Amino acid sequence: MTDYKKDFPLLKNSSIAYLDNAATTQRPALVLEAERKFYEENNANPLRGIYDLAVAATEEYENARECVRKFINAKDAAEIIFTRNTTESINLAAYSYGLEFLGPEDEILVTVEEHHSNLLPWQMVSKRTGAKLKFIECDEKGEISVQAVLAAVTEHTKLAAMTWISNVIGRRNPVAELVSAVHKNGGVVLVDAAQSALHMQIDVEKTDIDFLAFSGHKLLAPMGIGVLYGKKKLLSDMPPFLTGGEMIASVSRESAVYASLPHKFEAGTVNAGGAAGLRAAIEYVKNIGFEKIGKQECELTKLAFSEMTKNPYIHIIGGENPDEHCGIISFTIDGVHPHDIASILNEDNVAIRAGHHCAQPLLAYLGVMSAARASIAFYNTEEDVYRFTQSLNKIRRLMGYGE
Ligand code: ALA
Repeated sequence: MTDYKKDFPLLKNSSIAYLDNAATTQRPALVLEAERKFYEENNANPLRGIYDLAVAATEEYENARECVRKFINAKDAAEIIFTRNTTESINLAAYSYGLEFLGPEDEILVTVEEHHSNLLPWQMVSKRTGAKLKFIECDEKGEISVQAVLAAVTEHTKLAAMTWISNVIGRRNPVAELVSAVHKNGGVVLVDAAQSALHMQIDVEKTDIDFLAFSGHKLLAPMGIGVLYGKKKLLSDMPPFLTGGEMIASVSRESAVYASLPHKFEAGTVNAGGAAGLRAAIEYVKNIGFEKIGKQECELTKLAFSEMTKNPYIHIIGGENPDEHCGIISFTIDGVHPHDIASILNEDNVAIRAGHHCAQPLLAYLGVMSAARASIAFYNTEEDVYRFTQSLNKIRRLMGYGE
C-alpha cells in the first residue's frame, strides 16, 4: 500500500485514525500552500481591478475554473459556477431553475437516499410551485434498481435529483439510466456528486448530466468552495440566484442588466483562495489517478468488512460487497447507541460520525433511528482500520454486556 499520509500535515502530525472522510476530507500540504500562495502573492479582488495584482488574482481564479472544467469534462468554462458548497449549488439550481421553470403540472423526482441538502430545496420548490414531489425507493440493501428508476419517471418529470453515491449506503446509483429516461420526456437531471468527486471519474458530457453539484472540502480542497456545473443553455435562461456586486453588465436606479455566464451566478467577492486550493487538490488527485485511489480505498474497505463481520453484534447497512461501498460503512451494534460507539472510539482516537447523517428519510425507511459511520479515504492505512475494528470489538464489554 502506498503511504499518502505523509502528504497530509494533520495526519502526519497526529495519531488520529481519521475515518470521517465522508463528512470532510483532510487537505494535502500542497493544497494549503496553494491557498496561502494566493494570499501571499496574488491577493487582490478578482474580476475588478485593472492593475497587475488584480489581473493576477483574476487569472488564478479563472485558471481554477478551467481546471474544474477539464476535471469533469464540461464543454465550456462558463458552465462552471463557483459556490460555497454542494448545498449552495443545489439551492442555486432550485431557486433559479426550479422556481422559474416548474409548475403545478410538473413532477420533481428525488430518491429516498438524498442527503437533506438534495431534498429540502426540492421540497421548497414543490411547495412554492405546486409541482408534485415524488420518490424513487431503494431496496433493503440500499440499492436503487434501474427498474425502480424507469417506473418512477413519467412524462411529467420535469426535474429529477439524485445522489450519485449515498452518504449512508455508499453504493453508486444508476445516474446514466435516470438521465436517459428523464431526457426522453424533456426533463432535466441534477446529480449530487458530493460523495463521488473523490472516488470516481466524472464526465458530464458522456453522462449528459444537466446539473452537477459538489464541494471542494470533500475533495481535499479548502472549506467554502463548491461547484455547480450546468449546461450553458439552461444556465443562460435562468435568473440569478443572488444579486449584487460583479454579477451585472450595467445598473440603473430601477433595474440592471446581468453579466454573462458564469459571473451572473457569482455575486459578491468570490473565494479565490479556495478556488486556488481546489485547483491544487484536483491536480493532486489527477496525479495519483482514480484507479489507484479506488484500489487503495477498496482494499481498506474489504479489510474493515472482514474484521467487522467477525463480530455478530455488528450490522453493516447496505450491500454485502465491500467493493460497492465507495469507502462508506454505516453500521449499528446491538444494544449500543451510535453516539456511544463514536464516543468510545474517540477515547481510542478513532474518528467516525454517528447520527442520522442528514438523511433522516433514508434511515426511517431502513428502520434505523441512527447509525454509526466509518468512511475511508485512499490515504487511510491498514493500521487505521485495525485500530477502528479493535476499538469496536471492546464496545459491548464496556457497555456492560460482558462480551
Ligand atoms: N454530508 C456530510 C456527511 O455525510 C457532512 O457527513
